[in-house]
Amino acid sequence: MKKRLLMLLLTVMCAIAGAQALTVKGTAVDQAKMNQFIDDLMGKMTLQEKIGQLNLPVTGDIITGSSVSGDVVGKIKAGQVGGLFNMKGVQSIRALQEVAVKQSRLGIPLIFGMDVIHGYETVFPIPFAMSMSWDMDAIRNSARIASVEATADGICWTFSPMVDICREPRWGRMSEGSGEDPFLGSAICRAMIEGYQGADLADKATMMACVKHFALYGAPEAGRDYNTVDMSHVRMFNEYFPPYKAGVEAGAGSFMTSFNVIDYIPATGNRWLMTEVLRDRWGFDGFVVTDYTAISEMINHGMGDLQTVSALALNAGTDMDMVADGFLGTLEKSLNEGKVTMADIDKACRRILEAKYKLGLFDDPYRYLDAKRAKKDIYTAEHRAAARKLATETFVLLQNKDNVLPLKRAGKIALVGPLANTRANMPGTWSVAAASDRYSTLLEAMRRAVGDKAEVMYAKGCNICYDAELEKNSTMFGREMRDERPVDVMRDEALRIARECDVIVAAMGEPSEMSGESSSRSELTILDAQKDLLTALKATGKPIVLLNFSGRATVMDWEVENIPTILNVWFGGSEAADAICDVVFGDVVPSGKLTVTMPRNVGQVPIYYNHLNTGRPNPHWFAKYTSNYLDVPNDPLFPFGYGLSYTTFAYSPLTLSSNTMTTSDNITASVTVTNTGTVEGTEVVQLYIRDMVGSIARPVQELKGFERITLKPGESRQVNFTINADLLKFYNKDLNYVCEPGDFEVMVGTNSHDVQRQTFTLK
Ligand code: BGC
Repeated sequence: MKKRLLMLLLTVMCAIAGAQALTVKGTAVDQAKMNQFIDDLMGKMTLQEKIGQLNLPVTGDIITGSSVSGDVVGKIKAGQVGGLFNMKGVQSIRALQEVAVKQSRLGIPLIFGMDVIHGYETVFPIPFAMSMSWDMDAIRNSARIASVEATADGICWTFSPMVDICREPRWGRMSEGSGEDPFLGSAICRAMIEGYQGADLADKATMMACVKHFALYGAPEAGRDYNTVDMSHVRMFNEYFPPYKAGVEAGAGSFMTSFNVIDYIPATGNRWLMTEVLRDRWGFDGFVVTDYTAISEMINHGMGDLQTVSALALNAGTDMDMVADGFLGTLEKSLNEGKVTMADIDKACRRILEAKYKLGLFDDPYRYLDAKRAKKDIYTAEHRAAARKLATETFVLLQNKDNVLPLKRAGKIALVGPLANTRANMPGTWSVAAASDRYSTLLEAMRRAVGDKAEVMYAKGCNICYDAELEKNSTMFGREMRDERPVDVMRDEALRIARECDVIVAAMGEPSEMSGESSSRSELTILDAQKDLLTALKATGKPIVLLNFSGRATVMDWEVENIPTILNVWFGGSEAADAICDVVFGDVVPSGKLTVTMPRNVGQVPIYYNHLNTGRPNPHWFAKYTSNYLDVPNDPLFPFGYGLSYTTFAYSPLTLSSNTMTTSDNITASVTVTNTGTVEGTEVVQLYIRDMVGSIARPVQELKGFERITLKPGESRQVNFTINADLLKFYNKDLNYVCEPGDFEVMVGTNSHDVQRQTFTLK
């Protein structure tokens, strides 16, 4: 009611101000004009047509859930469809847009969405990998390029960024987010929205972002996908909500609900979440779409039949129904029975029409359907170069004993492993628009990279794992065919070339669909067949470089012990193979830093750097009656923020401009970093803060700043971090955002463990 009055007031004020336009964030829209247009349109719409706008069926070849929609064309003609998603190609999209515009009564254009998650045909590294670059400019640019390509192919709405904080590597969707840290996650969320939406949503090369999955999807019990989430509100607000909130502040046009329950109510039907937090508290004014069949899934959650759960969703503040047919099938009945109000249906319909208006679809429903652009703007040399460069920044050098890396372009190189000669596995999970046949395998790229200077010999050596069923389920049901040769034949072939060569490069790890949706694992180690091959390769005595492909944090205790050099390459996108070669041969120096804590074993999970202290802390191993394990130390295998380079960096002592501060001024933490090695390299300097005493228990450290700097050999640079009261704020037990006077510790270093410390007092 209040909101309506406010809108009315705004409209009147606008009219009084004459031509003066109100700018809606992220758009160049005149609010009053838009309101007038939508009022007029809604005045003509029947109830069924309004409900039709709330309906998002799926059609086309790319199906990302377990049910599909029927008679889509018939429904479009009847005005029963608001948009469609995951259709690829200008021609097919245009055909359906024409049905909507020419054959439905009011000709309301459809909105076309897609999971453009880390690029379109030019595929960037999986989001988890991208976060390891800590390079906001490059990440923003990746989203911009994704927008240019997707809009050239008819898409104006992407289901990205996925900003679910995740401390749970068993969960396969760790691959889709930015790791475990809310500060970094928020920065990445902002960068991606800026990249997708640009300054004007109606620009033909920008698309609407959708922040997902609201909320807390990254914290499922036991890491099993879609499983129960249960956490305190203090933890939600401080540790999991910040990236979603950053999405609202960056002007994201839409939000997607998550599959999980929150406070025992599924997110899609959770009014506290969708209305009180998202809209009332944070001021979100876009529309909310459900995740795939999330409305009907509330039946399994035990929330009632389809009619009940559909009403629950609408009343919660959810606007658009993805694939469940719950709104379309039941809202009219619920309205007649007084279970939902016309005002709520109108509100949802208006929000979706507003999105279409901001995208410029009412001006020109075909504005994203320019076949000429589709030919020239997709998978261009410029886009591919950006993807390749960003991929090189995402690889994390975990160890490099005896400086095996970088390799020389000389002698004989044995390239082995199930990921050495695969195309379909290169782009990584959720590359729905990928054109994999255009991408290089690592073998092809490596032969190209060495030319006639060295010989690259190849043997697969083993399958992904011994269990054919597990391999099938982890490769999108056999997308890459399994090698049917006997285990020892494959292994012997690999050992034979390994013995002949000077160095072994083992391309191993997970196939790309072993992470992503519905790809939870209970073990995080390298799989049996690959471990056995690695053991046999080690026995040859040749130096080994392990390239670890993965979409999550993996357990590598054995590898760290036994393999001198390990480069984590995640999934680097369409240009991954060339990018890997850039780093392997030293044309690019690795600079990626972990955005996740790497556990020693799965029993340590969840393990994360920004944890609370216990009353009996123990940073080392066993001591009776302290907080520890009998059989494994508390610390991780590799800490958050960790990553090596081919060069080395020295840090000068950390200084603070003052040891006291008030809430109205700020202090500066400074450190000078010097490249002490022999090649140019990039370091990510990290700032952490600890609030020593609080009204609630506070984490032992929290990331509060970072800077990427590139230094030539011998070069030094001073890095300054400004610390102000805002950086010290947190949500207290009443969920008020406050900073509390007292002592703070400042930590600056190359990763979350190797830091220098200083203290100051907030007066
Ligand atoms: C996923 C979403 C995705 C949607 C549409 C769902 O299964 O959870 O992340 O955007 O499908 O493809």
